[in-house]
Amino acid sequence: MSELDLEGYLTESLAAVASAERVAELDAIESQSKAKNSPLIAARRALGSISDETQRKERGRDIQHISDALLSAISLRREALAANEREAWLLEDALDLTEVVTSKVVFPSTRGHAHVVAQTRASLEEVFVSMGFSIEEGPEVETDWYNFEALNLPPGHPARDMYDTMYLDLGNAETVLMRTHTSPMQIHLLEAAVAKNALPIHAAIPGRCYRLDTPDARHLPVFHQVEGLVVDKGITFGDLAGVIETFTAAYFGPDIHSRLRPAYFPFTEPSAEFEITCTICRGEGCRTCSKTGWIELGGCGMIDPAVFDAVGIDSAEWSGFAFGFGIDRCAQMRHSIADMRALIENDVRFSRQF
Ligand code: PHE
Repeated sequence: MSELDLEGYLTESLAAVASAERVAELDAIESQSKAKNSPLIAARRALGSISDETQRKERGRDIQHISDALLSAISLRREALAANEREAWLLEDALDLTEVVTSKVVFPSTRGHAHVVAQTRASLEEVFVSMGFSIEEGPEVETDWYNFEALNLPPGHPARDMYDTMYLDLGNAETVLMRTHTSPMQIHLLEAAVAKNALPIHAAIPGRCYRLDTPDARHLPVFHQVEGLVVDKGITFGDLAGVIETFTAAYFGPDIHSRLRPAYFPFTEPSAEFEITCTICRGEGCRTCSKTGWIELGGCGMIDPAVFDAVGIDSAEWSGFAFGFGIDRCAQMRHSIADMRALIENDVRFSRQF
């Protein structure tokens, strides 16, 4: 084989090495160069037929150079390809930890906002603050004493049936419960005022309450109330009626009024149900208000002396009133929400309307 052929073989092989994309292709070129039919091997075999020793040695060196050049090109290319392959593998296997900015990518310009019940609670708080009430909060887990007994509802009292109570499996049976109304906060605030000698009290207490009710269009087992508590000297039923009417007009608007109808609560005497003009028909009479023009919102009354006795306040010196009504019911009336269960379904098509 002539020298030219070997050079040609080298040029061709180097081109193949340079264009190889995978390590396996290089392996093939290398093993071909060592195969029996390889021009390099043939050239080596032909060395024996060169009789001139100097010429033979020279030819041998040339063959070796060509072989070295090819092998070193293969090994360089192999390193480069191995690095590329490793990099590609790393990229493919990597976790993408970059943040996806969903506001730009998926939901253009959606920003959350407070739930309609939270908004209602905030507006109610504002109304009471503007009337000079402080806003207080209290525990949702209560003892029987605060939720019932101190409120003049001793064990076995038939009025306990009004409150389908969720009891907790803590302490003695039926002694720890989820509060069924915000009225236990009357007792907490009265006790604190006695301890700190800090009467009078003008407080509004919003919070979550629990009753074993089956959810329906007007009831949820977990719901919200605002309790009102005013204790001072010379407080009368007229003050109570005035506060309720002022609150009603401030929250629902000047064409919605309140009325009080006799009722019974063990912790107030006299007691009343507090109704407002039906916000659906504005008092005309409709299905929602059973054609009466009025909707019940809550209960109220003058603090029963038995409650003052339970916390050690002299009912000859102090008098007061309390009221409690549903925040969810207020939201329902104000926004004409037909079914209260929508409040807890978390359907954004509902929530985003408010
Ligand atoms: N706590 C009573 C209820 O939830 C409402 C109420 C509060 C009545 C304060 C009178 C005074 O049914």
